Amino acid sequence: MPASLHLLPHAPEELISGRLRRLGEGVGKVVYCSEHWVVKRQRHASDIIALIVIWKVLRRLARILPAHLGEPLLQRPSKPIRLLRVMMRPLVLVIPRSLWLMTHIGELWHVYHSRNVRGEHLARLHLAGTSLVPDHVTFPPVRVKVGGWPGWLTVSEATERVECTLHQRLADLAAAGRFGQLELWLDRFLELRQTGWQRGLFSVDAHLKNFGVTGDRVVLLDPGGLTDHWPEIEQRLSAQAGVAEPHLQLGLGPLLDSRPDIADRFNARWKEIVSRDGVLRHWPEERS
Ligand SMILES: Nc1ncnc2c1ncn2[C@@H]1O[C@H](COP(=O)(O)OP(=O)(O)OP(=O)(O)O)[C@@H](O)[C@H]1O
Ligand SMILES: [Mg+2]
Repeated sequence: MPASLHLLPHAPEELISGRLRRLGEGVGKVVYCSEHWVVKRQRHASDIIALIVIWKVLRRLARILPAHLGEPLLQRPSKPIRLLRVMMRPLVLVIPRSLWLMTHIGELWHVYHSRNVRGEHLARLHLAGTSLVPDHVTFPPVRVKVGGWPGWLTVSEATERVECTLHQRLADLAAAGRFGQLELWLDRFLELRQTGWQRGLFSVDAHLKNFGVTGDRVVLLDPGGLTDHWPEIEQRLSAQAGVAEPHLQLGLGPLLDSRPDIADRFNARWKEIVSRDGVLRHWPEERS
């Protein structure tokens, strides 16, 4: 259904009838949910900059620490990182934004911000109303109550709440020893990416918490990082061509520890599919 048909006369009742729970967060957004819907709060630029500073420090640390201590540091925002961000904020605020923007951190912020804006635009244009993304509705602005600071939020759009992120589903299946199912979801992930390429869209931020699971589908939760610019995609693919074990980059290392056979199969498929030739097989001819 095209996005325009999802213009509601008022917000879904469950969004305004109770306090929304904090469900998840990324670098740029905090996500709150009711039973069937999620709403998103954009983080302030200073919070994103604080997260980038923390991220850079943790990456340095991860390089010098043994892998079992270093890798958990690089998982996306968790409670300790949240605390660090709150502690960093005053420091970020005393340095004027114009100065931050002149540093490497400012450059990273700019790349992150512009990728988000572009991704959201492309998703609205090409993915709204398709089975590749969760359902999305818009409505006149309304104030909703949310857990934690600041306690409320004004929203005018909501997204269908998925069952969990793809990362969570894979972790649950690995913990339950259901590796056949885990491989099936990995296949669905690769299928979804290829469907996106057929529409001339490629994600340069395809980590497993940016995808969700609903019924038997994988959907894209976070359009940040979507691009239709072939030279950029080509550059990204050639930079990744040297990665020996893509499953490690995706955070699948701990999940597939006991099943190196699945890791090997997945890595072989990934390298064949997520490659210049693999993407070109699907890419609309007029766009490359
Ligand atoms: N529709 C949804 N249903 C359920 N959970 C969701 C939904 N959308 C987002 N989430 C949760 O919120 C988290 C953050 O959302 P999102 O990826 O949009 O934020 P972000 O700040 O843009 O992320 P990034 O750090 O990748 O830029 C997701 O990883 C997921 O856990
Ligand atoms: Mg995300």
